[in-house]
Amino acid sequence: MGRRKVKIIENLKIFEIGGKGKGVGEASDGRLVFVPHTAPGDLVDVRITKKRKKFFEAVPLRFYEYSGWRTEPFCPHYDICGGCQLQHISYDKQLEVKANEVLNNLRRIGGVEWERSEPIVASPQTEHYRNKMEYAFTDSRWLTAQQIRSGENFDRRGLGFHVPGHWDKILDVEFCALQAEPGNRIRNALRDFAKENSLEFYSPRERKGLLRQLTLRITRSGQIMVLVHFFRHDKKDIALVMNFLKENFPEITSLLYVINPKPNDTIYDLDVELWAGEPYIFETLGELQFRIKPKSFFQTNSYQTENLYRLVKRYAAVEPGQIVYDLYSGTGSISLFIADRAAKVVGIETLPQAVEDARFNAQFNRIDNVEFIAGDAKDLFSGELIREHGKPDVLIMDPPREGLHERVVMQILKLLPKRIVYVSCNSATQARDLARMKNFYEIRLVRPVDMFPHTYHVENIAVLERKTSSDA
Ligand SMILES: C[S@@+](CC[C@H](N)C(=O)[O-])C[C@H]1O[C@@H](n2cnc3c(N)ncnc32)[C@H](O)[C@@H]1O
Repeated sequence: MGRRKVKIIENLKIFEIGGKGKGVGEASDGRLVFVPHTAPGDLVDVRITKKRKKFFEAVPLRFYEYSGWRTEPFCPHYDICGGCQLQHISYDKQLEVKANEVLNNLRRIGGVEWERSEPIVASPQTEHYRNKMEYAFTDSRWLTAQQIRSGENFDRRGLGFHVPGHWDKILDVEFCALQAEPGNRIRNALRDFAKENSLEFYSPRERKGLLRQLTLRITRSGQIMVLVHFFRHDKKDIALVMNFLKENFPEITSLLYVINPKPNDTIYDLDVELWAGEPYIFETLGELQFRIKPKSFFQTNSYQTENLYRLVKRYAAVEPGQIVYDLYSGTGSISLFIADRAAKVVGIETLPQAVEDARFNAQFNRIDNVEFIAGDAKDLFSGELIREHGKPDVLIMDPPREGLHERVVMQILKLLPKRIVYVSCNSATQARDLARMKNFYEIRLVRPVDMFPHTYHVENIAVLERKTSSDA
């Protein structure tokens, strides 16, 4: 068998940051080369890892010149962990990259124009900003090439993050700056305790073991929810783990476990058991309190969510007596945030559990002019619902990455609400949707918001006003 040819591109000049936060250079044949952990101005030799008709993917091998955008990554795991992609770039430049990506997508994919764009909103916290982290246990943690070459016999048990591109490989982590303490302390103590007591770590390949996952939620007020996922029921060992956490971390306000014997990690269809404390925690956004249960969706950066919702409220500019629809309303947080001015807010959300949370949150915050309906927006946002609740004056939409279903767009164009505030976590699908509405709506404002510092993810708010009938 012949040896596989290792393809190296020498002296590649990186000229921009492209999709998924990768640096982009141009090979001699004109194909683009995408290289993670590089920045504009880097001059670098790279090894090709994927060859496609129109582009290459590569990894950096040796740097000759370094970009002026660079800064020292603060995380010891940055080289391998895929959680962050932009830590090597100063925060100012990260913001520039994200804002440009949004505007380029709107221009190139949507072919739309807007009246004005406002500067991207920086996250108030660039570390410790996540209220939720999920870690996986493994019995065969990731080893670096150097560790493998050393021939040493490593303890392969670990607790950490999935390595990008390897569903079954987990990087054991000692430290992560994205969540506040005691996040790191709880994770490390649980892993060490499990090792000392020879508890079985999960094997995703063989689908066996006991300890499977760990979910940590920490709110700004310091409430802490710890959910341990076990693969199988083992009364004695589960009690050992849960009592260890209860006794050593009395600050945990909600201590829970779940048994997940399924091939996948989702727990929406499983019963979560309470071990100690309350079955939920609360987070505060503005004046409002939100209850978070173990299966609840909640925006992960509470600091920036508050800013996002304030902007949505400002841009929605709801006037007294107006009817507002909030499509893809999740746990109802936007609806509740803007309800004080409206005659009524109608939230539509597909997850019954989230609708249940939204209704609870409305009652808890004594807001009675909101209504949450469970179902698919493409089916529910239609004639019958509109006849029951009235036509929207203002429409707010915060869909998942896929953007709007065609039927939702058709219904919008039928109802033609005066103003639309479209929040998106994927400016490519947002661009497509804005293009579908461009004959009927002016884009007054575009405002990106950075919810996830050090990652390539970026949210964008687009504010649309109905064109006067003579323009349409
Ligand atoms: C990006 S989240 C927005 C949640 C909420 N606006 C917030 O800020 O917390 C998108 C929401 O859309 C819901 N969803 C996804 N597909 C849907 C559909 N076809 N119809 C209605 N809701 C949907 C998801 O369950 C999720 O709660």
